[in-house]
Amino acid sequence: MKKYFNRDPASNTLQYEMARIIVLTFFASLIVLGLVIDSVFAVNKNGDTLYQNHCSACHGERGSGGVGIPLALKSFQDKVSNDYLFKTIRFGRPGRVMPAFDQLSDTQINAIVKTIRKFSTSKAIKYSNKTIVGNIKLGKILFKNNCASCHGPNGSGGKGTGVTFSRPRNSAIVAPALTNIGFLKSASDQLIKQTTLFGRKGTPMPAFSKKLKINEIDALIAYIRSFEKYKGTIKKVGSKTAQDAIIKVKSNYSLKETVKNIKRAVQGANFKLIRVQYLNQGIVKKGTENKKQVIIYFCNFLQLNTALAIDPRVGLFLPCRLTVVEQANKVYIIGINPLRLSSLFNNEELDNVCAEMRKTYLSIIEEANL
Ligand code: HEC
Ligand code: HEC
Repeated sequence: MKKYFNRDPASNTLQYEMARIIVLTFFASLIVLGLVIDSVFAVNKNGDTLYQNHCSACHGERGSGGVGIPLALKSFQDKVSNDYLFKTIRFGRPGRVMPAFDQLSDTQINAIVKTIRKFSTSKAIKYSNKTIVGNIKLGKILFKNNCASCHGPNGSGGKGTGVTFSRPRNSAIVAPALTNIGFLKSASDQLIKQTTLFGRKGTPMPAFSKKLKINEIDALIAYIRSFEKYKGTIKKVGSKTAQDAIIKVKSNYSLKETVKNIKRAVQGANFKLIRVQYLNQGIVKKGTENKKQVIIYFCNFLQLNTALAIDPRVGLFLPCRLTVVEQANKVYIIGINPLRLSSLFNNEELDNVCAEMRKTYLSIIEEANL
């Protein structure tokens, strides 16, 4: 007689996957974002500590850059105001990885700004809020010819974020999105103008003071400012469509057949099968694995590379995996909903990749279940 003291395998798997998601996202927020520490404990006013907890994981301990762009460069510090730094921290860059730090007080943000200033000997510059008037139509043409190659055809930024070591050396720093509402709310016209005139030495951002005339620079600034009117179109893909943490479909086949079908469907969808194993293999003693819970790992290396370049944090839920479990003579195919995970990361590009991943999961499951 079969003994079922293994409890319910399907809910076991669910718990396992849920626990995994919880643990992974917990560490993601703790290690990668470092947000938890002083929002939970006493209010910290020390800029150095706040910077280490909230920023260093992405921008480097001394502002040398990483997932986030460098903050220590003299060319950057010379041309940005404290007001810009303050607002950038407060508003973040929605959809571009850089989080908004609503949970920090003004005092705390000012303390972080002071810490960033210690990375360089530059004096903080102050800008007037005077609007720059220019010919938007001309600006659009100039943008296409001088800026779009890096900042994207519509100013929506380069692919990926921060400093990405996998891309060519001369463009290791990804151009930020200039259409981003967080950027537009933080940067004054004068700041954008100075940045365009003098560039950022030490990054790919060139100086245009010798290449363009002042009226052309002003036209560019007016064009960049005009992006503000599209701010309503910023959408959060992940939060809109991903309600369920898990995709769960009942299989029309036996466990063995289902695994076989998924293997075939995975390969049919141009993925490489990495391995098939029992879910608790390597966790329990050899030979005592639960044979009613099988996990299938698969991957498309090109897509993996693309995804990693967009956001290294996808390592948390890649390679792709589907689990097949048998419970009371019913077989289920279960996967983590990637879109649900990506909604935690403030990266619109990652949302798109994960929406694709979700579609792939669904089509593989459908194919396997025909
Ligand atoms: C999860 C990673 C991440 C964290 C955490 C993070 N940043 Fe960023 N930050 C980025 C990225 C990526 C960008 C570039 C945005 C883009 O590409 O549009 C950025 C941009 C910035 C900019 C704009 C730089 C410029 O060129 O104008 C500033 C300033 C900044 N971050 C400061 C901070 C500070 C201060 C903290 C901590 C309070 C912080 N960031 C936390 C990823 C991060
Ligand atoms: C060769 C690539 C390249 C070109 C061409 C280029 N940029 Fe940049 N730009 C960058 C990079 C990379 C950064 C980020 C620099 C850093 O890390 O501080 C940047 C930063 C900026 C910033 C600051 C944005 C922020 O979030 O801090 C502005 C404004 C800007 N560029 C405007 C322009 C304009 C206007 C043009 C065209 C006239 C232009 N750029 C052309 C690569 C480029």
